[in-house]
Amino acid sequence: MKVLIAGANGHTGRLIVERLGKSPQHEAYAMIRDAAQAESLKQLGAKEAIVADLEGDVSHAVKGMDAVIFAAGSGSQTGPDKTISVDQEGAKRLIDAAKKAGIAHFVMLSSYGAGDPDALPNLGHYLKAKGEADRHLIESGLTYTIVRPGYLSFELATGKVEIAKHFDSVEGRNIPRGDVAEVLVSCLDVENAKNKTFELLSGEQPIQEALKTL
Ligand SMILES: NC(=O)c1ccc[n+]([C@@H]2O[C@H](COP(=O)([O-])OP(=O)(O)OC[C@H]3O[C@@H](n4cnc5c(N)ncnc54)[C@H](OP(=O)(O)O)[C@@H]3O)[C@@H](O)[C@H]2O)c1
Repeated sequence: MKVLIAGANGHTGRLIVERLGKSPQHEAYAMIRDAAQAESLKQLGAKEAIVADLEGDVSHAVKGMDAVIFAAGSGSQTGPDKTISVDQEGAKRLIDAAKKAGIAHFVMLSSYGAGDPDALPNLGHYLKAKGEADRHLIESGLTYTIVRPGYLSFELATGKVEIAKHFDSVEGRNIPRGDVAEVLVSCLDVENAKNKTFELLSGEQPIQEALKTL
């Protein structure tokens, strides 16, 4: 499958590109904002880089793609306005473009507590925006997978996770970005993962086994 990665130059996005680049059945198309990032993403495994900004027109980015993995985000260094224009409206814009382009599967990197502003202290505005994007994806009619991890870490991937419909708390628990990347990429090939929303933490179950329990 030709897979577009939104947020390809991000910490998690780069790990996704790397994994897709090694996959025999997929090709990674890195969506980036700055053309200067293209070469390093190609070296990482991207077949091509596509310059597109979630705050503008993204229809050219999804053209000819089979799937999308959304791993973009405005991050913690920008204000609440960018949470709305990138994480919420930008995601919705890409979902709409994907729908128009007939994309077969849209995999969303969401967050624990998305749509539940009280789930994590101080993150209400962000969680509401992520929840709004998730709701839009579900209602779009696209085949989707919504992955809601707890706090992302830079620790080494373990290949082992815990998946649940809902964790009561993620306090003191997190998950390495490499494991999140592996889960997002694996969702493309696991029939079970289609039209599912689940939460994700580090755990004891190998990723492929955990996905089978969905
Ligand atoms: N941090 C956590 O604990 C946590 C927990 C749960 C879920 N998440 C979700 O996981 C996502 C990925 O995390 P991360 O740490 O890998 O993120 P990251 O390193 O901040 O990467 C975000 C990427 O989004 C891109 N981006 C920002 N605005 C954009 C726009 N307008 N158009 C296109 N691309 C844009 C950035 O592009 P540039 O490279 O050009 O800046 C960057 O490549 C987060 O955004 C968040 O929603 C995070």
